[in-house]
Amino acid sequence: MHHIKAIAFDLYGTLFDVHSVVDRCEQRYAGRGREISALWRQKQLEYTWLRSLMNRYVTFEQATEDALRYTCRHLGLDLDDETRAALCNAYLELRSFPEVPDALLRLRERGLKLAVLSNGSPHSIGSVVGHAGLRDRFDYLLSVDPARIFKPHDRAYALAEQAFGLSRAAILFVSSNPWDATGARYFGFPTGWINRGGSTFDEMGQRPDWELAGLDDLPKLFDGA
Ligand code: LAC
Repeated sequence: MHHIKAIAFDLYGTLFDVHSVVDRCEQRYAGRGREISALWRQKQLEYTWLRSLMNRYVTFEQATEDALRYTCRHLGLDLDDETRAALCNAYLELRSFPEVPDALLRLRERGLKLAVLSNGSPHSIGSVVGHAGLRDRFDYLLSVDPARIFKPHDRAYALAEQAFGLSRAAILFVSSNPWDATGARYFGFPTGWINRGGSTFDEMGQRPDWELAGLDDLPKLFDGA
């Protein structure tokens, strides 16, 4: 691992639990929280990919709101303005996975530069990381927004190379999302896949270099390297 000088992390699903919105969904739609959260996240991702293909970029917040409106319509749930605002706001206050704050500290102690590289807008990344009190763990909070295209497009991954001023071979990319780990690996990043729940990796011609059960397994890779 001696050639790795920096790590870029995906945000949603990797450092922060997107399904922490379930509680807020339950408050408004009792008994439907899980179903709403799962479809909402799936549609949110689809909208980012489809908009990238169509060359019709909107911010991640807009894609998130559009996905929520679809989800409620599809499930036959009434969505008033107040509920829409409250649920979208929940996406700005996600919980980090429990091992994340300490693992990030351990990585910094090992002299690594750290960044978030997310499809989120600068506002949403700043809100989520700030709300969790983790801003000081990162050298950079990178949004794909300047590239006006979402991961897994190459232009989005290139933002980390530019910010760190390092070649891609020196940057470890870490994501729990198989599509994201696949894109990062095609770009040329050494890639770690966080597989907390025994998921299946995608079949798109790439495999991660490391598969880890949680972020706490990451600092160990740098010991004695
Ligand atoms: C991210 C989401 C899409 O880029 O996982 O943070």
